[in-house]
Amino acid sequence: MSEAKIHNLNKALRTASRIAVLTGAGISAESGIPTFRDAQTGIWAKYDPQELASPRAFREQPRTVLRWYEWRRNLIDQAQPNPAHKALARLERRTRKQNQSLLLITQNIDDLHRKAGSENLIELHGNIYRHKCFQCDRPREGTISPIDEDSGLQRCPACNGLLRPDVVWFGESLPEKELQRAFSFTTRSDVFLSVGTSALVHPAASLPLLAADNGATLVEINPESTPITERADLVFHSPASQILTDIIPE
Ligand code: OAD
Repeated sequence: MSEAKIHNLNKALRTASRIAVLTGAGISAESGIPTFRDAQTGIWAKYDPQELASPRAFREQPRTVLRWYEWRRNLIDQAQPNPAHKALARLERRTRKQNQSLLLITQNIDDLHRKAGSENLIELHGNIYRHKCFQCDRPREGTISPIDEDSGLQRCPACNGLLRPDVVWFGESLPEKELQRAFSFTTRSDVFLSVGTSALVHPAASLPLLAADNGATLVEINPESTPITERADLVFHSPASQILTDIIPE
């Protein structure tokens, strides 16, 4: 049964012109980064991540929000790409050689796809290693920590606004150009792989459905069912690394 599904997935990937891949926190779980909804431990257990990741929380308690991101960045600093990230990077290299194209769209902010070698990558929800001004939105280059134990909150050299991580918070819009590119590629994709996402947060969660509506083979890899499972042509209730290393071996 599973072998037949793997065979079908391999065939779909080999014959596709365009392959879109959407990843979520589940793909980094095997690198030791807790998923977004499982993330809260220790002193952060009493906070709701959805509350903290918001402009309102930052306005009301910037120090708490920034310390939470420092905590998350420390977890991410210790993580390495796992076999699932590496397999997707291999798939991209293989498609390039065969004149196919692959776009990897991630909701993750942890930089692990890039570290694994993926290049055609859209980070829909930003990147925890980048920073920008909360007030004027200007990016702030270089490695900085927006909250410094000695000098306190860091400010924008241009407008004196507070610096924040360049990630998308609840209630904020996604980066326009990246979002358009993701939608346009998805509409024309022949295969759409949804890997390790709960498919609950829109607009990212609309992408697999859009692909299916436009005739793509929709594939889901997730140990749990999600709102898109019923629409998927192939469903693998397994960890991402298991399936991805099976179809794209080293
Ligand atoms: P979630 O934490 O909502 O979901 C993670 C998914 O990964 C779940 O469906 C798990 O079943 C699945 N999973 C766990 N381990 C896995 C494994 N080894 N292999 C494959 N799947 C596994 O994370 P996201 O779907 O990424 O946005 O959440 C989407 C967005 O919600 C996040 O980017 C974040 C949050 O709100 C913002 O912060 C804007």
